[in-house]
Amino acid sequence: MTIYARPLDRSFWTDEFLSRTSVGTAPFLFKNVIPAAAARPDDVLAGFAAIRRTHVAGTDIAAHARVYVGEDRRDDLLPGVLSAPGWDEGGFVQWLQTLTVAERFSLVINNLETVSPRLAAGLGAFLASLLDGWGVPLGGAELVAFVGNYAGTAFGVHEGFEDAFLVHLGPNPKNFYTWSAEAFEKLTGSKNPLYGDYSWLLEHGEHFVLEAGDILFLPRRVFHVGTQDEFSVSVAVPLYTYPDAGLLREVLFPELFASLLADRGPDHELSHPSPMAALAAGSGPVAQRLTDLARPTLATALEGLAAAVEQHASQRWNTILSNGGWELVDGDLARSEAAAAFNVEEVVPGASVSVIEPYRMLVSGQRIFLRGYEIAIDASVLPPKVAADLSAGTSITLPEDENVLAAIRALGATGGLHVTTRSIHMKDIAA
Ligand SMILES: [Fe+2]
Repeated sequence: MTIYARPLDRSFWTDEFLSRTSVGTAPFLFKNVIPAAAARPDDVLAGFAAIRRTHVAGTDIAAHARVYVGEDRRDDLLPGVLSAPGWDEGGFVQWLQTLTVAERFSLVINNLETVSPRLAAGLGAFLASLLDGWGVPLGGAELVAFVGNYAGTAFGVHEGFEDAFLVHLGPNPKNFYTWSAEAFEKLTGSKNPLYGDYSWLLEHGEHFVLEAGDILFLPRRVFHVGTQDEFSVSVAVPLYTYPDAGLLREVLFPELFASLLADRGPDHELSHPSPMAALAAGSGPVAQRLTDLARPTLATALEGLAAAVEQHASQRWNTILSNGGWELVDGDLARSEAAAAFNVEEVVPGASVSVIEPYRMLVSGQRIFLRGYEIAIDASVLPPKVAADLSAGTSITLPEDENVLAAIRALGATGGLHVTTRSIHMKDIAA
């Protein structure tokens, strides 16, 4: 059996990964890659417990849990599952069986990285090696947990739409079956998901047995389903690489034109209501007027295009990388908790400050990014050594420099910093 470096090194991605997966197009099971210390079933349950806490507190967050019994999504059971008193240690399966009144269940949790700092960091080490050795997905990655003792994935046999890794955490093994899109269509007559009794199909698929610590590469367009007899937990890591056309259509063009054609108040020419259009003249003059505005607007857009695209690309790049490769979402509970735990009163000379794993501080020109946020401070305020150490993930000791302290306080609001006070006194530092 192949023994992999932990964390995976760059040669894994450039050699082993590409050759085993036919350059990222075929499924492959890499055995024993993730150390138990990096991700455990209990970490996923702790993330679920955090979701339950926010539900009870009435806080709206990005991570949500969905409950399925068989292939039925049971939103009706959710309020009870989210608000019932918690399970005793080791009693999770029975607890959820009782609440769902079902022998077999599944729980699916999106954006788990935002409710589990342990998993964000533990699987963030895997993601960091992926970014370094394979590449950066421009939409970031997410953690989606599949928890349960279900006989088959609640979504039936279905197609994946992005390249993903399935990280198996155990405690029990899980069977996984995959089919190429062509094979699946040939066998079933369509590309629609297959529900119900698909046992006949399984023998035509490629079969993998996932055990704790294994990762299955699941390329996009591959159909797949998981089955098991006993309780287990897996975490999918989909890699969001949006089509370039989608980025232009959904983000870049709307932003560009919104800025060029912004409503600048009633006194501005661009905001003047159009004149009444003479009925007899028809719609022709209206079209002409719109064209007369569109042409110079497009010309200006073209003139500024390279700069606008560069700005968008660098913003996206720094956002994703400084967020440890995870996608940036609103309602990141772990971020708000880390920001709340960052006590600005403790930002004093002599205290030590470090960037929380797996996040990064990136300095890009005069701009600073941390944990996916750009902070409105001038990067030149930070002494080069302070900036370099923080960027390298090394802890720093705060100097007696009010500008630096103010910058650190501002950076702490991202939830990306950890501060520890030392038991030395001001006079010791001054000495
Ligand atoms: Fe899937």
